[in-house]
Amino acid sequence: MERPIERSVRIQPKILYIGTPVVLVTSENVDGTANISPMSSAWGFADRFVLGMGGTGKGLENVTRTRECVLNVPSPELWQRVERLAPTTGQEDVPAFKREIGYRFVKDKFAEAPFTPLPSEVVRAPRIAECPLQFEVRVRRIEHSELDAERFGYPSLAIVEVEVVRAHAHESIVDPANGHVDVSRYSPLLYVFRHYLPTGKELGHTFKA
Ligand SMILES: Cc1cc2nc3c(=O)[nH]c(=O)nc-3n(C[C@H](O)[C@H](O)[C@H](O)COP(=O)(O)O)c2cc1C
Repeated sequence: MERPIERSVRIQPKILYIGTPVVLVTSENVDGTANISPMSSAWGFADRFVLGMGGTGKGLENVTRTRECVLNVPSPELWQRVERLAPTTGQEDVPAFKREIGYRFVKDKFAEAPFTPLPSEVVRAPRIAECPLQFEVRVRRIEHSELDAERFGYPSLAIVEVEVVRAHAHESIVDPANGHVDVSRYSPLLYVFRHYLPTGKELGHTFKA
């Protein structure tokens, strides 16, 4: 039996995390060490990703300076390591709005999670060995936007468009017949209105697959 169409009510969401994969952005600090910034405002198309990055984060500072980073895609079983990084920033001088809600400065996020650094092939920031997908990217453009800090808790964001210059996948998720990612062995970790969720069973595939 088909369900009747439901009535909708007006809402005023503070966040728009409607269910997007978690991405761990690795970037190079000034002193050559690496930072990890958890994020979920990332979508990919062709050879581009578009990222929504908080204006005061270390990640944005690093990619603005170095014009490159790595997008590492964790699998659902890594959620607790992601969450260990959640209340941290690589920003030594923790912005007041973050300090007030419990963020602290962590210099070595690889040790904090913990994750294993793996040298990249094209960019200087390392990859995260545990993540089944890793995209080395170069920045094409950054657009800054002011926000209503009262409403959102942070004052600004930037839309960062990047181009993939090298893509890596764990061997176990690649179909050797065609080099495609085998979705029976890969699934992303979703961030849904600040909750971590795995994906469910496959429903089907599009005509091109
Ligand atoms: C699962 C998850 C998803 C997040 N998504 C985003 C996001 O899409 N954009 C963003 O700017 N911050 C996001 N954050 C918050 C950043 O991780 C946070 O601002 C962090 O301090 C950034 O680290 P950094 O200052 O070292 O770059 C997310 C955090 C978590 C745990």
